[in-house]
Amino acid sequence: MAYAAFRSIGAYAPQKILTNQELSDMVDTSDEWITKRTGILERRIAAKDEKNSDMGAKAAEIALQRSGIAKEDIDLVICGTISPDYFCMPSTATIIAKKVGIKGAMAFDISAACTGFIYSLSIARAFIESGMKKNVLVIGSEKLSSITDYTDRGTCILFGDGAGAAVICATQNKEEAIVDINTGADGEYADLLMTPNGGSGSAHDALEKETAGCYMQMKGNETFKIAVRTLTNDVKDILEKNNIKSEDVQHFVPHQANLRIIKAVGDALKMREDQVVLTVAKYGNTSGASIPMAINDLYEADGLKKGELMLLDAFGGGLTWGSALIPFSPLK
Ligand code: ACO
Repeated sequence: MAYAAFRSIGAYAPQKILTNQELSDMVDTSDEWITKRTGILERRIAAKDEKNSDMGAKAAEIALQRSGIAKEDIDLVICGTISPDYFCMPSTATIIAKKVGIKGAMAFDISAACTGFIYSLSIARAFIESGMKKNVLVIGSEKLSSITDYTDRGTCILFGDGAGAAVICATQNKEEAIVDINTGADGEYADLLMTPNGGSGSAHDALEKETAGCYMQMKGNETFKIAVRTLTNDVKDILEKNNIKSEDVQHFVPHQANLRIIKAVGDALKMREDQVVLTVAKYGNTSGASIPMAINDLYEADGLKKGELMLLDAFGGGLTWGSALIPFSPLK
């Protein structure tokens, strides 16, 4: 039987920095409020002509180069995103594949908001374990600034742009394989986080009449409470199911939505500070890109070594959630 190994990571963050101070000149907020309530100090914003696929392709190039796998051998490309280049078609995954020079591989997008990277990893693993694919390029890429309402202080302070990518490959060695991935969703809470207009669920003329509906809308406080509860239970489940204690995990890499959510979940799981990977202060919430960007930061700081166990967890619009236990298994 084939197993799925997490071979490499790459990421890209746009150059432009948007600070809390700059945001407080745009909406009624303050650096102090944002820092205290979210832990975010700044976020990156893509250039006007910089597309989601440009960022995704840059992250993918790095992950491919570090993987030791030739582009020609990639047979599946998955992109987790809620801010695709084009809303219906073509998928951002096909455009990224073209930009990095991958031809003929199956390619598609996954819409699971902040859980997009974990959902994509679970699909990559399923394709590999079933024997249908061998080398999968998984990308989480977001240009959230294009769907953020910069007059809404409840959301615009949170989000940023960026991309991350990983190469997942078939292996016969169980020691280096992804241990487990949990995923779930509950449409009961669909209205907590949504972009109401722009799809077939809204009237055709709603786009012109209510443009604000094309931006992300969020019931932040309700989302916050459900996030803490769901994430804690989900992570406890995956650890128990696999007979792994939280102290056996080298790196806890949570979705970077809000420092208070990360702290509450980390405390409930009895994670030590040195186990928790934090990038929320400098990138804000980059939805599907946040986990691979955080793994990449850890890797580039020389903090991620072969065989070390990562615990990922995420929560986002849908509602969706997921967690994963993954050893880092580079070829080189
Ligand atoms: N600056 C100043 N005041 C603000 C701001 C702001 N930017 N935003 C809200 N407030 C005010 C509110 O109006 C409210 O005022 P009131 O008491 O006079 O009514 C007060 O602050 C408290 O508002 P809450 O919404 O209760 O603030 P909270 O502490 O919950 O923080 C936040 C808001 C940061 C949005 C938080 O709820 C959060 O992080 N939620 C979860 C976000 C999340 O994880 N989303 C899921 C992933 S995102 C995705 O899937 C794309």
